[in-house]
Amino acid sequence: VSYQGGSVMKIAVASDHGGFALKEMVKKHLEQRNLEVLDLGTHSEESVDYPVYGRRCAEAVASGEADLGIVCCGTGIGISIAANKVKEMAHLTKQHNNANMIALGGRTTAPELALAIVDEWLDTDFEGGRHQRRVDMLDEM
Ligand code: RB5
Repeated sequence: VSYQGGSVMKIAVASDHGGFALKEMVKKHLEQRNLEVLDLGTHSEESVDYPVYGRRCAEAVASGEADLGIVCCGTGIGISIAANKVKEMAHLTKQHNNANMIALGGRTTAPELALAIVDEWLDTDFEGGRHQRRVDMLDEM
């Protein structure tokens, strides 16, 4: 899924300790693609709580501080649940007509695959049509 509001300006990244190593790799990869990265932590392997970082990243995207967001935890699950708690995301998903964040699992996805997923997501356009109808249904929920 890609950002359709124009060229990607800034991508927010955040993780807990379980996704820290992957977040660092993703950050480096994005910088190598000449994308601006907003690193919202965490900054070490020390144990932290993923809701804090999922929320932080989603709020940066919802406020427009970043165009897109990538969050990482051990599985990608806890932090995606946290990010989806930020209500403004529903508005932005509608406005942009596609997903503006992805979640990755540092303990479940090999780094090469994770970076390939990031590239695929950045480089693929939203198709609209029947998919738009389903996104609309999600927005109604
Ligand atoms: C942290 O140990 C782990 O629970 C977290 O990174 C994530 O996998 C939660 O969904």
